[in-house]
Amino acid sequence: MANTAVIGLQWGDEAKGKIVDILTENHDIVVRYQGGANAGHTVVMGGQTFKLSLIPSGIFRSGVQCVIANGVVVHPKTLLVEIEALQARGVRVGNNLTVSSRAHVILPWHVEEDRILNDCPTGEAIGTTLRGIGPCYRDKIGRSHAVRVGDFYESGWRERIIAVAEAKRRMLEPLGVSADNPALDAEAICREYSGYADRLRPFVADTTQFLLDAVDSGKRILFEGAQGALLDIDHGTFPYVTGSNSSGVGISAGSGVPGRHIHKVLGVVKAYCTRVGGGPFPTEQDNDVGQLIRDRGNEYGTVTRRPRRCGWFDAVAARYTARLSGVDALAVMLLDVLSALPEIRICTAYELDGERTERFPDHVERLRRVKPIYESLPGWQREIREARRLTDLPTNARKYLDRLAEVVGRPVEIVSVGPDREQTMFAV
Ligand code: GDP
Ligand code: IMO
Ligand code: MG
Repeated sequence: MANTAVIGLQWGDEAKGKIVDILTENHDIVVRYQGGANAGHTVVMGGQTFKLSLIPSGIFRSGVQCVIANGVVVHPKTLLVEIEALQARGVRVGNNLTVSSRAHVILPWHVEEDRILNDCPTGEAIGTTLRGIGPCYRDKIGRSHAVRVGDFYESGWRERIIAVAEAKRRMLEPLGVSADNPALDAEAICREYSGYADRLRPFVADTTQFLLDAVDSGKRILFEGAQGALLDIDHGTFPYVTGSNSSGVGISAGSGVPGRHIHKVLGVVKAYCTRVGGGPFPTEQDNDVGQLIRDRGNEYGTVTRRPRRCGWFDAVAARYTARLSGVDALAVMLLDVLSALPEIRICTAYELDGERTERFPDHVERLRRVKPIYESLPGWQREIREARRLTDLPTNARKYLDRLAEVVGRPVEIVSVGPDREQTMFAV
């Protein structure tokens, strides 16, 4: 396997972490290239569960270099806590982790701003993870208030933090943030971040050049997407999205590796759909079916523990995001969750203002108005967690997978029937 990307095709939490951990075996480098500590990726092996937010899910395999690239927004404290937590559990984190000097840094005021932004004045709240992600990306685009990892190793960074803190105070005071809020205490922030900068120094490098060299020398790179393509800032269900390009289109900008070097894109989907936070979700089942999925799939946010909204598989959305992300094949995850259902539905088209469409709407208000058109398939009503080969699956489960592949327009290459590495089947 050459350079591969793993992209979530729904609204996040598709079990990307599990797939990245498995595919790492065939790669030399694993790269996180967007998002930040809003991500919660789970890797389960030998009965042990690891939750990762910033560190790539490749960290468990020896001989693999993990890269937090330029497109990620780094919360230094979270990163350091994560490093130490892994080390305390015997996972090596040292020179096998590199953090881009170009990555942007989340500062305490970003978290305050996230809270204020979330109280959306114009309607339904976005329901962010409150990790300061959107405000940090906003400062990146705005430039003048941005702070990058590499800034801490050049002269003048203290003066920069003090000046930005003062500008933020002037902006945030009218919004109800008091001047003595610790999130605006420039001196204290300089002390705190100076400590983080010292501790992170051994990890910091020019990852753009590193990855370009790796491409030249034929190293095999695995790109780990965070969030899901429907949360993409440009192509997702705006404004109910995250602050970065979380579909496949974000890989090059977030890592520095040109698209021509991405040889294979694996689209990760759940066998159903979930969403955390606000925004339309056409196939949502706010009923017993949704609750059954939530219970069986333990659908509670990894980062915020919020109950995830649950619903049927939306093939209109997945077809769109598979095309958008240049997906070659699908990994269908959490198939075991559906085992209890007598009937399983797939949304194959929408009805919008009285007309049938197979296109995903480009405006959130039209997405709110769509009515899903479902196809019904018989369930298999038998536990499948012990299945290890596709031929072990009940006929109805295989028929469901075949139909998913057909309606999304991509072959199913991986099927997962439980959180553990072992509970994974490969079609090829
Ligand atoms: P990510 O953010 O895309 O990496 O996904 P999360 O880790 O947030 O959520 C996926 C959850 O499903 C985690 O708790 C995984 O351990 C779990 N999981 C992964 N694959 C399977 C599966 O096939 N079946 C079940 N029941 N759980 C799974
Ligand atoms: P992983 O990588 C699911 C959602 C939030 C909110 C919106 C914006 O684990 O799949 P943000 O804090 O990013 O500004 O929030 O995006 N969101 C996620 N939902 N999984 C994630 O990450 C998510 N990261 C952000 O719930 O609706
Ligand atoms: Mg997650």
